[in-house]
Amino acid sequence: MPLHILDHPLAAHIITHLRDKTTKPATFRTLAYQISLLLAIESTADLPTEDKAIETPLEKMTGQVLAHQPLVVVPILRAGLGMVQPFTDIFPEVTVGYIGLERDHTTAVARSYYCKLPQLAGKRVFVIDPMLATGGSAANALSVVKQHGATNPTLVCIVSSPEGVAEVEKVHPGTTIHTAAHDRALNAKKYILPGLGDFGDRLYGT
Ligand code: PRP
Ligand code: URA
Repeated sequence: MPLHILDHPLAAHIITHLRDKTTKPATFRTLAYQISLLLAIESTADLPTEDKAIETPLEKMTGQVLAHQPLVVVPILRAGLGMVQPFTDIFPEVTVGYIGLERDHTTAVARSYYCKLPQLAGKRVFVIDPMLATGGSAANALSVVKQHGATNPTLVCIVSSPEGVAEVEKVHPGTTIHTAAHDRALNAKKYILPGLGDFGDRLYGT
């Protein structure tokens, strides 16, 4: 199963500040934007291109531009919202769908409370959620986008756990996962260690 871990000194720098418990929500949001921008670039490295004939001020040449495959980004609410803007900034034509899932605080099982998706057949779909912990939320969201026609959706997260990656692989074998950091394990409350705590709470100051 393809697990891609960001390997860049800037990514390591940003992740360390995201993890730091003294980082306040305003800075956390900026860092979330920055790491998601790196992930947006990395996770789209295989997008198809096509030739385009142009003229530079000096001569004619053939360059490459992105081929016309519609992109859809699907954040898992609420924390996934913190990863949307980098995708819309660099891919202005991207469509955004939403899936609302919330983990129960005692069981850690995700409950669905919202879904608004366009038709996904024939489109390149990226499910984005910063934390891949038990993998329950991601596996659920991947099932939902597939029910709406997505084939081979890509999962993009900021921090993953071995348990979460294994769960996604079990339920959706072969899913490509991009992560900025692959951490050690889950604790008894199903939080990622060392992790960064509750991403949504830190993003929104709740
Ligand atoms: C967090 C996170 C993921 C989920 C990961 O969301 O953003 O969606 O937990 O955990 P899992 O892999 O064990 O399912 P949460 O349920 O806390 O909701 P929030 O985004 O509204 O804070
Ligand atoms: N959700 C989070 O926000 N953080 C974790 O460590 C696990 C799930």
